[in-house]
Amino acid sequence: MPGQYRSDKSAELGSPADRPGFSAVDEGAPPGPDSVRLLRRDIGAAVAAVATTDERGFRGVTVSAFCIVSLNPARLLACVGAASESLAAIQLSGHFALSVLSDRQEFLADQLAGRAPAVNPRFNGIKHQLSKLGDPILEECLVWFSCAVQASNPQGDHTVVYGDIREAGYGSGREPLLYFDGSYRYFQVD
Ligand SMILES: Cc1cc2nc3c(=O)[nH]c(=O)nc-3n(C[C@H](O)[C@H](O)[C@H](O)COP(=O)(O)O)c2cc1C
Repeated sequence: MPGQYRSDKSAELGSPADRPGFSAVDEGAPPGPDSVRLLRRDIGAAVAAVATTDERGFRGVTVSAFCIVSLNPARLLACVGAASESLAAIQLSGHFALSVLSDRQEFLADQLAGRAPAVNPRFNGIKHQLSKLGDPILEECLVWFSCAVQASNPQGDHTVVYGDIREAGYGSGREPLLYFDGSYRYFQVD
């Protein structure tokens, strides 16, 4: 869903610094989608790229909705927009690689979110290695996981994709890329 994660300052109810304090949205009723979108902006989050293979080559998407759900068996999940072309490609291939992005990969995060010129289907110019399942792992990431789709669970406008982790490791990145209040953030460097 292009635009859904965009930083649209005009639609903002207020940055954390501008807000008066404790409050409820939507008069305490179950929050509507605009409210949830704005609330989600304030969940400071790590950023990852989920990538798979399709008939053109590779396809990737930026996600912040991901987590490790089980250590034993090793399993993670990522929530991918129901209309996303990447979701269709993941479901077709049955596997994906998830690279947790480092602070050197902001532009790539924008590219895979459709905010900057698209990544070419061969990932030319992007340092990557192939997982044993054949998916691109981004070399400058912090950590990476290669997964076989274990289950897909549609939930509203996103689908929760569970992946059994078949292979995992570290990239050359040292600090995480974070997303908060509609922009990328970095840990303070001393
Ligand atoms: C920081 C950031 C986090 C995002 N997190 C998610 C996410 O968790 N799930 C999702 O489906 N889209 C997320 N998006 C939006 C997708 O990257 C974007 O909609 C993308 O264009 C979908 O591409 P596709 O249709 O080729 O799959 C995020 C975007 C940004 C910039």
